[in-house]
Amino acid sequence: MSTPDRATASIEWAALRRAALEVATRAHAPYSGLHVGAAGLATDGAVVVGCNVENASYGLTLCAECGLVSSLVSGAHGALVAVSVVAGDGEPLAPCGRCRQVLLEHGGPTVLLDAGEGREPVKLGALLPGAFDVDELVARRGG
Ligand code: THU
Repeated sequence: MSTPDRATASIEWAALRRAALEVATRAHAPYSGLHVGAAGLATDGAVVVGCNVENASYGLTLCAECGLVSSLVSGAHGALVAVSVVAGDGEPLAPCGRCRQVLLEHGGPTVLLDAGEGREPVKLGALLPGAFDVDELVARRGG
């Protein structure tokens, strides 16, 4: 078994989903009323979480995935292996376009996204085909 296979084989999706639901209860979402929680398994084995934090100036809202990535990076936990994003009802929520790009930076297209109990996880690359990434940046920037 290769290293990525070993890492993904041991993903405890139910635990990840529970962590996402738990942090969703701490969301600051007085404007939309949509509480979102995100939990990610990192390459060092840590589970990092984030919730959405809304703002009276609506456009400044922080998505749950942004909090998760901030925690991943500030805690030096490495890259993402798997992510579960749920709403307050515990059901998986499709990450918004911006968050797909933010997650991509920290795990690449093979990051697995929770599709819910009894459903096959989805690769991030399938949700963001043809993404702009660091390879594109390096290849295309001027000297
Ligand atoms: N939201 C997230 O936290 N993540 C997403 O990927 C989609 C949307 C939040 C932002 C806002 O607080 C609420 O859901 C409604 O858009």
